[in-house]
Amino acid sequence: MPSAGSGARAAQFELMARYSHRAMISSEFADALAELINSTENLSTDDQINLREIQRQVKRAQAIPESLRAEQARFSALCHAAWIEARPQSDFSKVAPLLRKLVDLARAEAACLPEFQQPYDALLDIYEAGTTTAELAPLFEELANNLTQLLSKFKGKKSQLLPSSSVSSQQKLVENVLADLHFPKTASRLDVAAHPFMTTIGRGDTRITTRYDQTNSLSALYSVLHEYGHALYEMNLDEDQVGLPCGSACSLGIHESQSRLWENLVGRSFAFMQYLQPKVTAALNLSCSIEELLQNANQIEASLIRVEADEVTYSQHIVIRFLLEEQLINGRLQIEDLPEAWNSLYQKYLGVKPQNNRDGVMQDIHWYSGMIGYFPTYALGNLYAAQLWQHVRASIPQLDQQIAKGEFSTLQSYLKENVHKVGMRMHAKDLIEAITKKPLTSQPFIDYLATKIQ
Ligand code: CO
Repeated sequence: MPSAGSGARAAQFELMARYSHRAMISSEFADALAELINSTENLSTDDQINLREIQRQVKRAQAIPESLRAEQARFSALCHAAWIEARPQSDFSKVAPLLRKLVDLARAEAACLPEFQQPYDALLDIYEAGTTTAELAPLFEELANNLTQLLSKFKGKKSQLLPSSSVSSQQKLVENVLADLHFPKTASRLDVAAHPFMTTIGRGDTRITTRYDQTNSLSALYSVLHEYGHALYEMNLDEDQVGLPCGSACSLGIHESQSRLWENLVGRSFAFMQYLQPKVTAALNLSCSIEELLQNANQIEASLIRVEADEVTYSQHIVIRFLLEEQLINGRLQIEDLPEAWNSLYQKYLGVKPQNNRDGVMQDIHWYSGMIGYFPTYALGNLYAAQLWQHVRASIPQLDQQIAKGEFSTLQSYLKENVHKVGMRMHAKDLIEAITKKPLTSQPFIDYLATKIQ
């Protein structure tokens, strides 16, 4: 879209937001819902859950005025467009007024929902229902402290990257691995995009993207493994419940746990390297040992950019964003002080300091698109994945041998039955506890990383 079209697009977003809001809070819909809920004895357990979840969404919508929804839609589109222009110039002052407006609108939304203990909880609820600031703050603090300790042990250890390889040979490798994962060609696509993502168009049409970098021979593969984890979740949702809560992903955090599981816990393991090494040799025409591959995929170094961060430092980027957005919503931090606050937290948690706002406070799309309360789901995804993984390993004793041979079906079935098919029948933390028989902690994640970087 040409940049001059962003105003008209914002107006269209606003109109769509008004229409969908009206439909959601219409009396016909509310009456039909109430009638169904009152006939509980005739309903299956799944339908009771579906109704409970839909009613939760309707209640939230009813508390929020249409004018607020409309402003959020319009200003999110305008701020996003402004960010696209201002980011290459690193010019925070160009986006600051619109970002201030989005934060004010998010605070206004939270003020409409007094049933939440804290304003920030009302925003968390959009992305990770049932999670609160009171739970996250100590969980993330402990996580950050442990990660800082791990990182200090790792200072200065860095190995050489693999030699460059052509885009076409990397494509061959990616397609090879997807074939071993039985990624179904009749129900999916793999394409190229500037920022890798997964999207489901409808049942039987789940798409993933990646990007190729000649100088980094494995980065496209790891993006594919990440998006594959998201795609597998979508493809395994309950077929009989399409479009309903029981047939929808549990939460963004659980979604991210599935992508991280394939990208990191599987993809960066020794067993996976045993499988991958002959494929790399054949497709990329590189001779490298299993040990070299393992080192390559497990480079650990504090850096400025979240999306390029390794397993140890990634969650620190999230803790920083959580602290900042929580303060913005509580009014303890002002937009004009945000870049400085960002830089000093990077110094504190990662020991690095951005030289400009492009690589600092302006690097991510989320805040500039009105998504506040979203970031914690990434770190939760890491924690969920590690706790699940501990349990999966105990449940499938032959897992390493299977992965080393490129046999992934036992793991895929396990995830389908225990995680994917459940949908929204449970909240995220209840799902993790039901599977692993333990409440969520950061310990399995820390243990996993500590073993890995010995
Ligand atoms: Co993801």
